[in-house]
Amino acid sequence: MTKEELYSVALDASKFSYSPYSKFKVGAALITNNGEVYTGCNVENISFGGTICAERTAVVKAVSNGQTEFLKIAIAESNGGDCSPCGICRQFLSEFSKDGMLKVIFKSNNTLVEVLLKDLIPHNFSFW
Ligand code: THU
Repeated sequence: MTKEELYSVALDASKFSYSPYSKFKVGAALITNNGEVYTGCNVENISFGGTICAERTAVVKAVSNGQTEFLKIAIAESNGGDCSPCGICRQFLSEFSKDGMLKVIFKSNNTLVEVLLKDLIPHNFSFW
């Protein structure tokens, strides 16, 4: 799947966003190393800290289905605007990409980019 195709799956997933507080709808699409695709959206909570981002929703869906090895993830904001993964999501993704080689696709300066996780979160937290 090209980065454009995976981004388009993420954009579709943003329609399920539950975001009554921020009104900022985000979708994510994750490809596992065995070719499965898991989608996610942000799910907000009135206790704001309980909110989960689209990327983490997708990862949690995959892990809870027995999949922990991932090739690529795309993140999309529902209007196609810029949306790079937040710091918590970068750290969360690094749990399942120890070498940082996960490809992360998102819009930056209105351009679709694909970058390695290790370049998004150098020196991620670890105590191993
Ligand atoms: N959000 C995501 O879903 N992913 C990110 O990486 C950035 C932020 C969501 C969380 C919240 O529901 C809304 O965007 C505004 O912060």
